[in-house]
Order: sequence, then structure tokens, then C-alpha cells
Amino acid sequence: MQSVEEQVFAEVDEFIGGTIVREDEALRGSVEAAEAAGMPAIQVSAPQGKLLQLLVRLVGAKRILEFGTLGGYSAILMARVLPPDGRLISLEARAEYAEVARRSIERAGVGDRVEVRVGPALEALPVLEEEGVGSFDLVFIDADKVNTPNYFAWALDRTRPGGLIIADNVVRKGTLADASDPDEATQAQRCLHETLAGDSRVSATTIQTVGAKSYDGFLIALVEHA
Ligand code: SAH
Ligand code: DHB
Ligand code: MG
Repeated sequence: MQSVEEQVFAEVDEFIGGTIVREDEALRGSVEAAEAAGMPAIQVSAPQGKLLQLLVRLVGAKRILEFGTLGGYSAILMARVLPPDGRLISLEARAEYAEVARRSIERAGVGDRVEVRVGPALEALPVLEEEGVGSFDLVFIDADKVNTPNYFAWALDRTRPGGLIIADNVVRKGTLADASDPDEATQAQRCLHETLAGDSRVSATTIQTVGAKSYDGFLIALVEHA
């Protein structure tokens, strides 16, 4: 059951979705395909997705790395605003999710720009390294939350100055502020914030969010010039 407040949050997202943030057929199709395949509906909300698109455009990103593909919703959004020679690599642990995502990505017309790699992200990273993947302009971290600090540390060494690292789901219904919360995923986000506080390589903020996706928030970090 949604609380009255949560209903209002969802209604406002719907209003935004009916005005300045419109989903098209392919995007809705990716959500429907994910649902039909039994995936949880935990993709970013439409307004959050639009923010990702604006950020991709603002940094002029050409190379994007995503942790956590699910049904391809955020990958499609970001890939759509890449230039034709832009590339997005998305890492997904579950082969069956990756397969559904690839089909939706193809249907959305961005199959030539997106590569979905299957396997735990921590195992995919050394492979990317060996291939000499180079540096990224934007990294979106949205996979298993306990590993967000590990993904962030890897991304920080491989994001160009002026690039962005964005981590979803860091506020976790407000438990971010609770030092004694027993959830390891929450402790990981606290640890990430505490680490970044002392790291002059990034300038970061965390924005709390409400909406159709309940109460959470994302961290945005700008990689500073040396
Ligand atoms: N970014 C997507 C939502 C991702 S949900 C969107 O907004 O559309 C989180 C995803 O991370 C799930 O699909 C889950 O299977 C995947 N995941 C979980 N653990 C992972 C891991 N260790 N490596 C890679 N992906 C993982
Ligand atoms: C979960 C994962 C997400 O990326 C998200 O945005 C919301 C929930 C989850 O694993 O429950
Ligand atoms: Mg998320």
C-alpha cells in the first residue's frame, strides 16, 4: 500500500511525464518487456532518466559506462543522446536480463552504440582493463549497492577530468543518515560519502529524491582537473 504522500509523489511524476518528460513507444516497450520477463520495476523514473540525458549532453559524453542494465531503460535513454560515434557499455550480472535488455535496446534503435556485458561487474572490470578500454566521460553506478564504493573507486581512476560519476540509490529511505543501520548496502553509501569528503579529485553532492520510485537519492561527482 502506498501512503497518501507516496500517491502524491507518483501523481507529480505522472504530471511531469505528461508534460516536459515524455516517454516514447520504445522506452515504454522496454519497461513492458522487463515486466513481462519478471524483472523488478526498479529502473530510474522518467524524470530521473531525463536528468541522466541532460547530464550526458552537458558533459558532451561520448563514452559511458553503466553498472546494472536491468531491462535497458537507463541505457536506452543515455545512448539516445550520444553522438553517432558514442559508445555505452552496460554491465549486467544476469544473462536473462541482459538478453531482454539487448532486444529492447535494438528496438529503440541504439543497438549500434550499446554493448551489454554479462557477469558480475567486479569480474568485468579487469577484462575491460585488459582490453585497454581507456577513459570514460560519464559513469552511472546502479548495480548491487554494497559494491557502489568499489565501482566508484574503479571509475574514478578511469573518468576524464570534467567527467561525471553518478551513483543511484545512495539515500535508501533516509537510512544514509543512520550510523547504526545494520544494512550493509546503507553502510556502503555512508562509507562512500566519508571517503569522498577527503578526496580532492572529486567535487560531489547528493540529491534526495521522491517520486514514483519512493524516497531515495543519487550522488553526482564531478572529476576535477588535477
Ligand atoms: N540502471 C537500470 C536499473 C538497474 S537495477 C535502469 O535504471 O534502467 C540493478 C541491476 O543490477 C539489476 O539488473 C541487477 O541484476 C544488476 N546487478 C546486481 N548485481 C550485479 C553485479 N554484481 N554486477 C552487475 N550487475 C549487477
Ligand atoms: C533496487 C535497485 C535499484 O537500482 C533501484 O533504483 C531501486 C531498488 C533494488 O535492488 O531493490
Ligand atoms: Mg537504481
